[in-house]
Amino acid sequence: MAISSRVLLAAVAFLAVLELGLVSANFKDQCNITWGPHNAEFTEGGEHLKLSLVNKSSGSMVTTLKSFIYGSVSTRIMLVKGNSAGTVTTYYTSSTGNFSLHDEIDFEFLGNSSGDPYTLHTNVFADGVGAREIQFKPWFDPTADYHNYTIFWNPCMIVWYVDSFPIRVFRNYTGLPFPTRKPMFAYSSIWNADDWATQGGAVKADWTQAPFSAEYRDLDLQTCECAAGASDDACADSCASSKYAVEPRCELTDKEKRQMKALQLGYTIYNYCDKARTNVAKDPATADPVPPECDLDDKQDQGQY
Ligand SMILES: *[C@@H]1O[C@H](CO)[C@@H](O)[C@H](O)[C@H]1NC(C)=O
Ligand SMILES: *[C@@H]1O[C@H](CO)[C@@H](O)[C@H](O)[C@H]1NC(C)=O
Ligand SMILES: *[C@@H]1O[C@H](CO)[C@@H](O)[C@H](O)[C@H]1NC(C)=O
Ligand SMILES: *[C@@H]1O[C@H](CO)[C@@H](O)[C@H](O)[C@H]1NC(C)=O
Ligand SMILES: *[C@@H]1O[C@H](CO)[C@@H](O)[C@H](O)[C@H]1NC(C)=O
Ligand SMILES: *[C@@H]1O[C@H](CO)[C@@H](O)[C@H](O)[C@H]1NC(C)=O
Repeated sequence: MAISSRVLLAAVAFLAVLELGLVSANFKDQCNITWGPHNAEFTEGGEHLKLSLVNKSSGSMVTTLKSFIYGSVSTRIMLVKGNSAGTVTTYYTSSTGNFSLHDEIDFEFLGNSSGDPYTLHTNVFADGVGAREIQFKPWFDPTADYHNYTIFWNPCMIVWYVDSFPIRVFRNYTGLPFPTRKPMFAYSSIWNADDWATQGGAVKADWTQAPFSAEYRDLDLQTCECAAGASDDACADSCASSKYAVEPRCELTDKEKRQMKALQLGYTIYNYCDKARTNVAKDPATADPVPPECDLDDKQDQGQY
């Protein structure tokens, strides 16, 4: 390649990406209200955000203005107090474009009747392949105070953290889908899902209790941002050489592994790998095969991978 085109490529790569670094984020400055603007309220100059669900069809959503590839997005959330049955509060990242090929990393908080525990639901889609749900019962009351939820994403792994404790890892295994090329936005929303969310849809929202509100603070975006107008490929190429991707951390620390194991043992209420294995054991002829990462994860945990 001629020197001049190399210089040009480097310049393009530089322009395609902006590293946000340690700039502290603010909901008002960093996000757009993309659904139900009358149900989103910024206070404290945008440091604090309240999202409300006022009736069956009127909730709210905010979306980051910038898309990114790799990094971590954190925010502290205090979930709907009291009877939150039928409501779902979300905190997730997703690519745009063709949904059947999209990437997504989810935290979803499924409400419950007063006194019954929320469900902390996690999922991931890579190239449109989803159905990788793992659910936990929170080990704290997520409605009593703010707790810090983090989505960490690098070329090796995705990690879900709660108050800096890892609860789940989704790894990049050769040959299996993993998000690396599609920019994602980060989203937060509250919506009505009383047809399925609480005890399988058996417990409905009590609309006399509306509005249902979730509160947010301390938005923290440490991401490799795509520059305005950059193509997906230009952003992917730039972010692949950003500090969020170069020499990525490919394993949790030993301490984090112990923390994760303890939380998984104590608080998992649903795991798609266990479900798939149960189905295969019951009816090997017709059950869907166990997703390949399930066995690879077990080997990794036993140090055989
Ligand atoms: C904010 O969201 C609204 C509704 O989706 C959209 O029309 C508008 O263009 C967005 N603004 C920015 C700056 O992204
Ligand atoms: C829900 O609330 C919105 C305002 O937030 C209102 O426009 C709409 O008519 C309400 N829908 C129902 C079914 O009450
Ligand atoms: C979306 O992707 C699917 C799967 O590759 C493909 O069949 C479909 O044609 C695509 N749709 C569009 C609108 O590009
Ligand atoms: C992650 O996955 C991509 C595509 O599947 C692959 O090219 C890349 O080498 C993987 N990266 C790591 C660090 O494993
Ligand atoms: C939330 O957790 C992340 C990951 O551990 C951490 O980097 C961030 O500082 C935490 N935010 C707050 C406000 O504690
Ligand atoms: C709600 O509470 C019930 C009873 O403790 C529990 O079975 C269920 O998993 C909880 N969560 C949801 C979202 O229904």
